[in-house]
Amino acid sequence: MAINTLVLDLETGDRLSKLQIAAESIKKGGIVVFPTETVYGLGANALDGDAVGKIFTAKGRPADNPLIAHFSSFEAARPYIKNMSAGANLLAKAFMPGPLTLVVNKGEGISDNATCGLGTVGIRIPSNADARDFLALSGVPIVAPSANVSGRPSPTAPSHVINDMDGKVDVILLGGACEFGVESTVVDCSKEPFELLRPGAVSLSDLRRFAYVEHHDAGEGQKPKSPGMKYQHYKPSASVIALDCPHEAAVGIINSGCAGTTGTAALVFEEFLDSAKAPLVLSLGSAKDPSQAAKKLFALLRECDLAGMGRIYAMCPSDEGIGLAYRNRLFKAADNIIS
Ligand code: TXA
Ligand code: MG
Repeated sequence: MAINTLVLDLETGDRLSKLQIAAESIKKGGIVVFPTETVYGLGANALDGDAVGKIFTAKGRPADNPLIAHFSSFEAARPYIKNMSAGANLLAKAFMPGPLTLVVNKGEGISDNATCGLGTVGIRIPSNADARDFLALSGVPIVAPSANVSGRPSPTAPSHVINDMDGKVDVILLGGACEFGVESTVVDCSKEPFELLRPGAVSLSDLRRFAYVEHHDAGEGQKPKSPGMKYQHYKPSASVIALDCPHEAAVGIINSGCAGTTGTAALVFEEFLDSAKAPLVLSLGSAKDPSQAAKKLFALLRECDLAGMGRIYAMCPSDEGIGLAYRNRLFKAADNIIS
């Protein structure tokens, strides 16, 4: 059944009173879409199991995939954490607020509906000012997955959340395009050694300056480390072909695969905009700055769907820095990886 969604643009008019309306909705058990520096989130009061349940319904999210709890400050998160290790504290000090989630032992309070009965909880302190002010005004921990329909590309711009969530949630707060465009780095700090569960803008080498963090590339057929890793993710309607090969070779594959077609798109680094020949060619920004590709990826996948494309070829950066996050998302979205 459709809900009458209140859409509030934080970039015009009285920002604070709009945040206040959204915070009141949270306190009354509503669900609210809000911007963060990574992707838009769909939030509910983490202490209210019924409110949390509405998130799973709105997204069509599998019931065994736990949610991350968001706080306005690390001090606000402490009461909900049990036995945090010295190494986890170092990571928190170094990267919070920011695009990092730490999985730690769960204390009392956060609904079991949010953590799917696990003894751990993901903690995140967004750096985005709208998110932090909304969290502070709400006065409760807010659990929030990405605000996309489950399985679809995560939302990184206002039009994405309107498309996916209008009519399904109580309030949508619009705050422009997201700074990073990929979800937070998730590190499991509930065991030693720590383990990278999802790469993001805080890179492995960033993390390892403060604590040793293991990383295993999850191969096919391996048991998923994080409940969310076993599900289909980030898929546009078009089929996706990831080109994990030298960029010149990628151009060759694009040009032969697109010849004579109309519904084929290519996501290429800007250095190859002239040499790639496809009905729709979109730029990933410079190959020298993979943060641009990471920021644009989800938006470009959605743009290809809107343009009616049936197939998308996409170039890859190396796995250094945020390149690892781009590759992780693209490979999950892909039907085929050519290397
Ligand atoms: O950047 C982000 O993290 C965004 C914004 C809205 O904050 N949120 C987000 O949430 O990406 P979601 O639900 O789309 O992804 C959370 C991931 C899932 O893969 C989930 O399985 C994993 O984190 N996760 C959450 N709690 C966990 C836990 N206790 N143990 C292991 N994995 C957990
Ligand atoms: Mg998600």
